[in-house]
Amino acid sequence: MSSQFDQFYNRKNGGSYKWDSSPVKSDNLIAMSVADMDWPLAKDIEQGLMERVKGGIFGYDAPPANYYDSVINWMKRRHQWDIKKDWIILTSGVVMSINVAVQSLTNKGDAIIIMSPVYYPFSMAVVKNDRQLITTSLVQEEDHYDLDFEDFEKKIVDNDVKMLIFCHPHNPIGKAWTREELKQIGDICQKHDVYVVSDEIHMDFVYAPKKHIPFVSVDPSFEEFTITCTAASKSFNLAGFYTSNIVIPNNKIRKMFQAGLERNGASHCTNLGMAATALAYEKCEDWFDEVHHYIEDNIHYMDNYLKNNIPVLKMTKTESLYLTWVDCRELGMDDQALNDFMLNKAHLFLDEGVLFGQEGSGFMRFNLACPRVTLEKALNQLKIAVESL
Ligand SMILES: Cc1ncc(COP(=O)(O)O)c(C=O)c1O
Repeated sequence: MSSQFDQFYNRKNGGSYKWDSSPVKSDNLIAMSVADMDWPLAKDIEQGLMERVKGGIFGYDAPPANYYDSVINWMKRRHQWDIKKDWIILTSGVVMSINVAVQSLTNKGDAIIIMSPVYYPFSMAVVKNDRQLITTSLVQEEDHYDLDFEDFEKKIVDNDVKMLIFCHPHNPIGKAWTREELKQIGDICQKHDVYVVSDEIHMDFVYAPKKHIPFVSVDPSFEEFTITCTAASKSFNLAGFYTSNIVIPNNKIRKMFQAGLERNGASHCTNLGMAATALAYEKCEDWFDEVHHYIEDNIHYMDNYLKNNIPVLKMTKTESLYLTWVDCRELGMDDQALNDFMLNKAHLFLDEGVLFGQEGSGFMRFNLACPRVTLEKALNQLKIAVESL
């Protein structure tokens, strides 16, 4: 059955980072890098924004009247997560908010832990704010990764770690953390007074039988030390609207975070971003269910394709995200050669695994939020390139 997501939209030379920042320009180059989707807005968002823009006044606005309910109801409906209006702080992006959390809750020189490989702005938020970066390496099993809890706790104790920046679900490895894992992580952080900044921006993209469980919801006591970062931006392809919802149940932490935003003059986000978020959460659930399903099919398609046609490349079990993490180490190339091969032989612009930490050496991250034709073409190009070796 055909889907609205089968439609191909040409983004080349349209100003998108994903398509236009490739170091190699060739006609057959396919971009599967930066985490956005190659599809336009859901019709109800487009329509709602047109109405807002037409004759609209764009001064400094508070969130629209239905804003908070739209967020609260989405979290309740989709994730059985009860949040209160007072807990939500609107910001202009998750990465900015992680930086503000680092600045507000820790001091220069403090140790902050991340689980590597992980979304690279995490390490940047630590290092660029003059904090000490502590890394626990996720352990690669056959087709997935696990946390080495012993190493995690030891690093926390040995370095007097003050904060964990946590990725849930975990970009780039596609792991959807289980309740048991979350509880164990939370217990360790609680025991050693470690704040948890839980980046759950990809929360809506978890595939059955797995289910997203917000970290802070695992135990009421986790509310005392957790900041949860959410946004509609990944789920509805709204990244360019720079709007996110940071959920902080604890009063003291919320005030510290809010003060940090104010110190940076960063307490506002855009009228259209707020409008788009409310429209998405209120009116576009069907659109989301369809795109979720479509991407899940893309994941299965790629998994089967690699197994049947390019078995030398191994896809990590993709329980979540619209990104997939592929082990290319059997090609026997160093990272520079691997990236050159992808760009110049397979004509694919991907995210290099090593960007996400040394543990990502020999891996590539593919973005599957694209029409099936794009994926088919990309995989055919990849097959031809690998066969030519
Ligand atoms: C884990 C994670 N956090 C945050 C972001 C970006 O968030 P924002 O655009 O709100 O800064 C991304 C984008 O890819 C991401 O993968």
